Amino acid sequence: MRGWLDDRRGYMKPVQIGEVMRAGALGYVAKTGKGSKLSVGDLVYGGLGWREWGVYKEKEMRKIVVPKGVDPLDFLGPLGMTGMTAYFGLFDVGKIKAGDTLLVSGAAGATGSVVCQLGKIAGAKVIALAGTPEKCEWLEREVGVDKAVNYKSPNFRQEFKDAVGYIDVYFDNVGGEILDMALLRLKKNARIVLCDSRPYGITGYLNLISQTATMQGFLIFDYAERFPEAIQTLSNWLKEGRIKRKFHVVEGLDKAPEALPLLFTGGNTGKLVVKVGDYQRAKL
Ligand SMILES: NC(=O)c1ccc[n+]([C@@H]2O[C@H](COP(=O)([O-])OP(=O)(O)OC[C@H]3O[C@@H](n4cnc5c(N)ncnc54)[C@H](OP(=O)(O)O)[C@@H]3O)[C@@H](O)[C@H]2O)c1
Repeated sequence: MRGWLDDRRGYMKPVQIGEVMRAGALGYVAKTGKGSKLSVGDLVYGGLGWREWGVYKEKEMRKIVVPKGVDPLDFLGPLGMTGMTAYFGLFDVGKIKAGDTLLVSGAAGATGSVVCQLGKIAGAKVIALAGTPEKCEWLEREVGVDKAVNYKSPNFRQEFKDAVGYIDVYFDNVGGEILDMALLRLKKNARIVLCDSRPYGITGYLNLISQTATMQGFLIFDYAERFPEAIQTLSNWLKEGRIKRKFHVVEGLDKAPEALPLLFTGGNTGKLVVKVGDYQRAKL
């Protein structure tokens, strides 16, 4: 979302001043047009934006049928973009396999916390990086990683080296100095999954040559056709209790501008969501 506000070439048209802020959202259908395949009360997902109400084309959204044992909100978390990003990033781009050592940054966040758990399901050793001792404790106790390291610790460089050893897959949510450090810890044929980054003058990339490693960016929208496959698998793991999720819910559309910066200060644990309306009280 932050990237969409920069007026420069990207994978999507930048949001212009005065336009509705773009956002993936869940919503309920309040009224339908003639010939619509949707019904009043249907749960839908789409680029509904930062708004309480809107008039949309049907092709801008898809109907969500909530499987038994999962919550509608999961379609913003492990069964939404977050889960899709974790699933395809780790399995398709990262090609994780049993016995691998997986490093995850932004690990207590929405995407990272799912990546960590998918890593464990795949049989990898998982090292997680997060910005507070509480997040690290949550990652080790609840999420089930092998080791969590606080990247804000004064001894981080040494702690990182001790915990990480050498890695097969690095799922990078943050870029910067941590990416540079990870580049120095690559095993032969390691894979770096660039989920997000920020401008930083990395120097460790020569190891991509010496370790015949790859660093690949990806965009989750390119996997849209395969979302049903991932939703099916992830729903099963949710129902079996193999994936845990945490939501950080901020109430009220007016709080959205205060909520977004939490992603940059680390104010959220798990999926940050702004609740803009209440279905029970909703009427046109
Ligand atoms: N490639 C794609 O298609 C795709 C799709 C979806 C999302 N993404 C990207 O995936 C990333 C994760 O998204 P998310 O929604 O799951 O967010 P998130 O991880 O829930 O929130 C971001 C977390 O990153 C950490 N962080 C922020 N600035 C940092 C920094 N400078 N260095 C280290 N850690 C920092 C913070 O936790 P700490 O307390 O640990 O610092 C914060 O809680 C985002 O960058 C997003 O843009 C990419």
